[in-house]
Amino acid sequence: MATRDPLTLALVYGSTREGRLCDTLVNWAAEQIRDLPDFALQVIDPRDFAVPADFPNAASASVRQLHHRLTKTDAFLVVTPEYNHSFPAILKQVIDISSAAWKAKPVAFISYGGVSGGLRAVEQLRLVYAELHAVTVRNVVSIINAGDEFDAHGRWQSEEQKARAEKRLAQQMAVLGWWAKSLKAGRRLPEFAAVS
Ligand SMILES: Cc1cc2nc3c(=O)[nH]c(=O)nc-3n(C[C@H](O)[C@H](O)[C@H](O)COP(=O)(O)O)c2cc1C
Repeated sequence: MATRDPLTLALVYGSTREGRLCDTLVNWAAEQIRDLPDFALQVIDPRDFAVPADFPNAASASVRQLHHRLTKTDAFLVVTPEYNHSFPAILKQVIDISSAAWKAKPVAFISYGGVSGGLRAVEQLRLVYAELHAVTVRNVVSIINAGDEFDAHGRWQSEEQKARAEKRLAQQMAVLGWWAKSLKAGRRLPEFAAVS
């Protein structure tokens, strides 16, 4: 049953690559979390917002809309691949053009890639989010050799890996929920004004 005041949760695409695997991961995650009673889910895909390659002096209507959507969010679940031991440039641009929207909010990750399961992307993102006064969740759902893990229809090849990922995601959502509630309350405190 849905709660009265659900937390707004944004499932954020980290890749806009043509033929991206990110769709498969986002669809799987959305299926897992869309019925969680504490959260109202929205999916944020940078492809929907005409994110500019150059940092703009004045935000376009599309960028303002993206910023608005992220500002209304209480918790983030970022789905990121690893590109050259880091995270995709498009994700950095999304963060840079909307940095204030992440302030004093929790960020959790689903990462994927080759042998590292995208963990190097996550570790670098933690540094970036610290600068924004965002709190990154320790738990990570990391998918190793993700390209081999799913068939053409986005179905898991290994039931064991699927079960493990589902369990990890459930644990992570519990932690994310606790942080989201805690920080939502914290943002209402007068002392929050000192966080700059
Ligand atoms: C430009 C580029 C760089 C990559 N670098 C790495 C890497 O350093 N480590 C790794 O494990 N995988 C790396 N990969 C593999 C990707 O993590 C993997 O293909 C992933 O599925 C890409 O996500 P996407 O299809 O959603 O964009 C790289 C892929 C690309 C396109």
